[in-house]
Amino acid sequence: MMKQGGYNVAVVGATGLVGRVFLDIMQERNLPVKSLRLLASARSAGKHIRVGENDFTIEEATPNSFTGADFCFISATTEVSREMGPVAARAGAIVIDDSSAFRMEADVPLVVPEVNADDLASHKGIISIPNCSTTPLVMALTPLHKVNPVKRVIADTYQSVSGTGTRAVDELKEQAGAVLRGENAEADVYPHQIAFNVLPHIDSFLENGYSKEEWKMVQETRKIMHEPDLPLSATCVRVPVMVSHSEAVHVELTEPMDVNEARRLLAQMPGMCVQDEPNDAVYPLPVEAAGRDEVFVGRLRRDASHPNSLAMWLTSDNLRKGAALNAIQIAETLIERNLV
Ligand SMILES: NC(=O)c1ccc[n+]([C@@H]2O[C@H](COP(=O)([O-])OP(=O)(O)OC[C@H]3O[C@@H](n4cnc5c(N)ncnc54)[C@H](OP(=O)(O)O)[C@@H]3O)[C@@H](O)[C@H]2O)c1
Repeated sequence: MMKQGGYNVAVVGATGLVGRVFLDIMQERNLPVKSLRLLASARSAGKHIRVGENDFTIEEATPNSFTGADFCFISATTEVSREMGPVAARAGAIVIDDSSAFRMEADVPLVVPEVNADDLASHKGIISIPNCSTTPLVMALTPLHKVNPVKRVIADTYQSVSGTGTRAVDELKEQAGAVLRGENAEADVYPHQIAFNVLPHIDSFLENGYSKEEWKMVQETRKIMHEPDLPLSATCVRVPVMVSHSEAVHVELTEPMDVNEARRLLAQMPGMCVQDEPNDAVYPLPVEAAGRDEVFVGRLRRDASHPNSLAMWLTSDNLRKGAALNAIQIAETLIERNLV
């Protein structure tokens, strides 16, 4: 049952790319908010943000910021999540965290509501949302897996710069301008120029040769799908796209599956949209997925390398379903299921 009068909500990272999209979606979906506290670093304290008709002053996030909060949404940095998450949970808030800080902890549900909403029932105050490339992948795998268990997955990503945050978006704009003017592109956020380039490097590298981003996809997919041994390999690539991540996915199933059957199952999955008329140049595109809530899937075909395997192309807005929307859907589900 919904709390009379709505919920006291704190947003940590309200000035960031995800935070601002969060505030938009919160209004679009009428999250029942009684009071709203917008928090960021000391750099932003005193700045103003408009939310609907109201003007809010940003406050510095401190351990005392969460008194009376029912929900605390954190989209800041992993360090901020580690520091503020447990404090906010102890103050009685349900923490919905965008970072990788708690995702793999055994007592923290890692949730995409369309896939594993039931995991929310065991929450102990902190709930994580997955990496923005994991979410579209589990959305696409789940409807196939339910009828024909997935045996192996290969996913190669094409991730936009907004996945890195505000500074990376600015860097792509600056570099693109510089290159077009015939000047040198200065790299600061990324190890190399991102404008007119692609970087097979997201986050740092592990001893096994994978990047942390790639390994997050492996571990998070297994946790969300409750398949701890699912064989999965990923290559994560940063591309000079502003918003929306894409993925080329190859899924080996237990039995062969007709492509039309896979298309039908994907079309029925809540939150997914099939765009698959390649002869008319219809397939998911990052510029069209930006600002949309759905995970788009197209280029569906039998994978010629294995009789039980399908190939597909996914695109989704990393700031919405990859972050803010998923966080809000978790809050909505908790409210619906009396778990607040
Ligand atoms: N971007 C995505 O697609 C995506 C997807 C899934 C998850 N996430 C996660 O969401 C988080 C935010 O990402 P973003 O893209 O929104 O980054 P961003 O645009 O760089 O924004 C970062 C936010 O964190 C705040 N912040 C930084 N240091 C802080 C501190 N010491 N105390 C309080 N607030 C602090 C910033 O406040 P100031 O303005 O005051 O600096 C800003 O509001 C990250 O954990 C990221 O991994 C992002």
